[in-house]
Amino acid sequence: MARLHLTFYINVFFLVSHVLHYITCQQCETDHYSIYQRMLQGYTFKALKMQSGSLECRQACLADIRCQSYNVVFKGICELNNRTKEARPENFVKDLGRYYKQRDFKRAPLGSIRELPAISCKEIKASEGGQAVSGYYWLDLIRSGDSVLTYCDMVKEVADQCFKHLCQNNATCIEGHVNYTCACDSSGWSGTYCEKGRI
Ligand SMILES: *[C@@H]1O[C@H](CO)[C@@H](O)[C@H](O)[C@H]1NC(C)=O
Ligand SMILES: *[C@@H]1O[C@H](CO)[C@@H](O)[C@H](O)[C@H]1NC(C)=O
Ligand SMILES: *[C@@H]1O[C@H](CO)[C@@H](O)[C@H](O)[C@H]1NC(C)=O
Repeated sequence: MARLHLTFYINVFFLVSHVLHYITCQQCETDHYSIYQRMLQGYTFKALKMQSGSLECRQACLADIRCQSYNVVFKGICELNNRTKEARPENFVKDLGRYYKQRDFKRAPLGSIRELPAISCKEIKASEGGQAVSGYYWLDLIRSGDSVLTYCDMVKEVADQCFKHLCQNNATCIEGHVNYTCACDSSGWSGTYCEKGRI
């Protein structure tokens, strides 16, 4: 009998929480439910205290353009992450004291803004799935903290720094760690783009 009651209350709880989710998420892009006892490890860029059970963490996440997801520590700490579990599945781990939730409104696609560079084109593809098309993205290939707008070939999932370049006079564009360089041919051109006349 007691067990029947418990089942009943659990069902009511889930019904109510789904209705609440529906009401509060009229503006949400897709349904992202909280995933209990899981967390994204290693990508927290900001942690703050919050009242346990409140919506403060979601608000803090929505207020920061870099925030992609968050971990809530049940005892009242909010951890804002700059990646989603899709971008970093290997860092999505079990944690009995937390739950994980993806940002559900106005999440900037990874690599779409200077403040949120990806470390590879592959990471963007993983993060955005079918949404990622070949084009220019903000990358920080060497994790220096600087973003460089770089072309990603999303079929091969590789960066192509020389896709479009400013090298002139038949100079060869050479891929670099961070950005391309121009190798002037032997005919005497010089300058960053081999734009300076023969001497
Ligand atoms: C993301 O957060 C990690 C962990 O705090 C940090 O090392 C990294 O620089 C951040 N990356 C970006 C693009 O903000
Ligand atoms: C990449 O290198 C080229 C040639 O040196 C330069 O013109 C361009 O500004 C660089 N891009 C960035 C984002 O630093
Ligand atoms: C570039 O190479 C082509 C073919 O080798 C040659 O005809 C042309 O004169 C070269 N242009 C310059 C600016 O060196």
